[in-house]
Amino acid sequence: MRCYDGLIVGDLVAETTAASIAEERVGLIARVAGYASEYLAGVDGRAVAPSAEAVAGLAALCGELPAGATDAGEVVGLLHRYGSPATTVNSAGRYFGFVNGGMVPAALGAAMLVNAWDQNAGLRVLSPVAAELEAVAIGWVAELLGLPSEVGRDGIGGVGGTIGGAVVTGATMANFCCLAAARHAILERAGWDVEQDGLFGAPPITVVVGDEVHSSLVKALGMLGLGRSRVIRVPVDGQGRMRVDALPHLDANSILCLQAGNVNTGSFDPAAAICPAARAAGAWIHVDGAFGLWAAASPGYKHLTAGYELADSWATDGHKWPNVGYDCGVALVRDSAALKAAMSISAAYLVQGEQREPSHYNPELSRRARGVELWAALRSLGRAGMAEIVERTSAHARRFAEGLRGAGFEVLNEVVINQVLVSFGTPERTLAVVAGLQREGTCWCAATVWQGRTAMRISVSSWVTTEADVEASLGAMVRVAASTEELAVVRA
Ligand SMILES: Cc1ncc(COP(=O)(O)O)c(C=O)c1O
Repeated sequence: MRCYDGLIVGDLVAETTAASIAEERVGLIARVAGYASEYLAGVDGRAVAPSAEAVAGLAALCGELPAGATDAGEVVGLLHRYGSPATTVNSAGRYFGFVNGGMVPAALGAAMLVNAWDQNAGLRVLSPVAAELEAVAIGWVAELLGLPSEVGRDGIGGVGGTIGGAVVTGATMANFCCLAAARHAILERAGWDVEQDGLFGAPPITVVVGDEVHSSLVKALGMLGLGRSRVIRVPVDGQGRMRVDALPHLDANSILCLQAGNVNTGSFDPAAAICPAARAAGAWIHVDGAFGLWAAASPGYKHLTAGYELADSWATDGHKWPNVGYDCGVALVRDSAALKAAMSISAAYLVQGEQREPSHYNPELSRRARGVELWAALRSLGRAGMAEIVERTSAHARRFAEGLRGAGFEVLNEVVINQVLVSFGTPERTLAVVAGLQREGTCWCAATVWQGRTAMRISVSSWVTTEADVEASLGAMVRVAASTEELAVVRA
């Protein structure tokens, strides 16, 4: 009887516990949905940068680790109360810093669901949905970027071909994966197994980059033992494009790194003029196309990407122009075996299936199912939606350039896509305008130095940005610039 009683009591306790866990989770999700809705409903009326008080308020979250437990709802409540005001507003349409997209609704919804799923996307057996959708998304990215049909295809619902693709944290890691594949392929041809034997005593590899190479690619070279400085830097023109006449000798031991979309000017290396000869010489051609490669998705801008399809590897971002949330980058490699050789992992306990295993193609084992968010964003945008983002944001950039020129300021770049560089005169005044604009709060831009000139960078990358956002931001730029001019006059 006692046993029987015990069983009943035990079952009831277990049932009550499972039910209460479920209830707590459901309650928490409803509460968080309320916070998230409140946050998103409020962003449009808020200054883009958080106030100094809001940042100071983070002190409330920075105490000692509590000795005991805190209710999850209370923890998230604290986050909303002190964390939400200390964010920069990326989700409204007036954030023009770095190359930050917003987050299309399908990606936001998918991110919330993916978090509820709590999937480990390292192996297919751990998450069939993550493995399958990541592979599909890689294929869609390859298609949108206009890459050869064999790239990014294998392992997707039985479709044949060669996939060399990975969904990683961003273009930095995408560059890393692609360059690791390049390193493997070149040294394998020379009879050297770099994964087993490392670079000690390996045949030399020549790495060629444009002088305006993105610092993240240089960092990736450093992480791969290829050296941040041990590169040949090719001189560039006034827009940052590699000069074809200045290219060094290339051969089968060379990695040539091209750039599609300079982070300052948006310019493209002239791939059509460079790639045929580089390919004929046997060089591995890598493209850093963190945002610019997406121009290929638009009929109106596709011409800018001509020639890049001849490359061997391509790095791009989901969290830039496609407006997937953070963090999301994509590496694509023509020779899937080279990427797999560089990244694959095996151990007795790691169950391997017949189909593509994500962990064979990227640097991580356990990982978020970020490919699902990429899939959701592309599934909702479709080809037309992706083209529209490229076209609309680039039109906004042209309007910024026209408005600022009209107000008497100098635009330093040819506005080919979504990037604008503007000088307000002296470096001091330009920096004062940037600081003033960030304080004023209508919009947010950062400063840069372009070929010796201090400039303000405007990157229009968010799907949310409207014409009204652009006009309001232009108005603020001109107003703040006028007030810094008055200040300069008063000081003089
Ligand atoms: C051309 C280029 N490459 C690489 C990166 C690095 O991208 P991520 O921050 O996603 O690693 C950027 C970022 O702006 C970029 O513009």
